[in-house]
Amino acid sequence: MCFLCFLRHSELLSLIFCSLMMNFKIEILIANENHVAYVPTILQTIENAAKVRGTGIAKRTPEYLEQKIREGKAVVAFMNNEFAGFCYIESWGNKQYVVNSGLIVVDKFRGQGLARKIKEKSFELSRKKYPEAKLFGLTSGSAVMKINTDLGYVPVTFDELTDDEAFWRGCQGCINYDILQRTNRRYCICTGMLYDPKKDKF
Ligand SMILES: CC(C)(COP(=O)(O)OP(=O)(O)OC[C@H]1O[C@@H](n2cnc3c(N)ncnc32)[C@H](O)[C@@H]1OP(=O)(O)O)[C@@H](O)C(=O)NCCC(=O)NCCS
Repeated sequence: MCFLCFLRHSELLSLIFCSLMMNFKIEILIANENHVAYVPTILQTIENAAKVRGTGIAKRTPEYLEQKIREGKAVVAFMNNEFAGFCYIESWGNKQYVVNSGLIVVDKFRGQGLARKIKEKSFELSRKKYPEAKLFGLTSGSAVMKINTDLGYVPVTFDELTDDEAFWRGCQGCINYDILQRTNRRYCICTGMLYDPKKDKF
């Protein structure tokens, strides 16, 4: 009788699962000039996801993303050497505020904790580059809300966020922009979330 015959069905399945996982290489990297070639793929993936969500999109040019990558202000993820996800950091209000923007995970790699890993790396990078800055985000997605909460962000009203006009102009591509305008930038569909290093309880 062979070895496999001694194993119960569930044990056999977990053995197969473990060996598959061991062969699965996940890389979460601070992007560098070698990753500039992925810019068109990143932009296309973001655009496709925005169409599916129907929310509109903050316009980013290839040059802008390329600059972020070259400045070491972006995080890129690979699964078995295949592009899997991305995020970059931007500073606002004279570097008093930092936002992790453009988070995207390729469809087929979703639901495996990749966004969480990318956000953790982006958070770490933001804290290192701008240790005094407050980190914030605007989101209507529950995945990002969960991840942000675990990183120490708390929900806030918009008056606690940056008053940098250039940041708010980024909302113009969103289908809900009229709400933001009507409420004098006080409320919208998105939840504002803020991480204040001075109030970090972790
Ligand atoms: C949002 C997105 C980045 C999530 O990527 P992902 O790799 O699937 O997320 P993760 O697997 O790391 O999940 C993180 C957490 O969110 C939860 N989650 C993931 N997708 C979710 C969804 N659609 N609805 C509710 N919760 C979700 C997961 O269960 C997990 O929570 P847990 O750790 O408590 O179990 C991905 O769906 C995406 O790229 N969407 C399109 C672009 C987008 O919406 N970007 C965010 C702009 S604010």
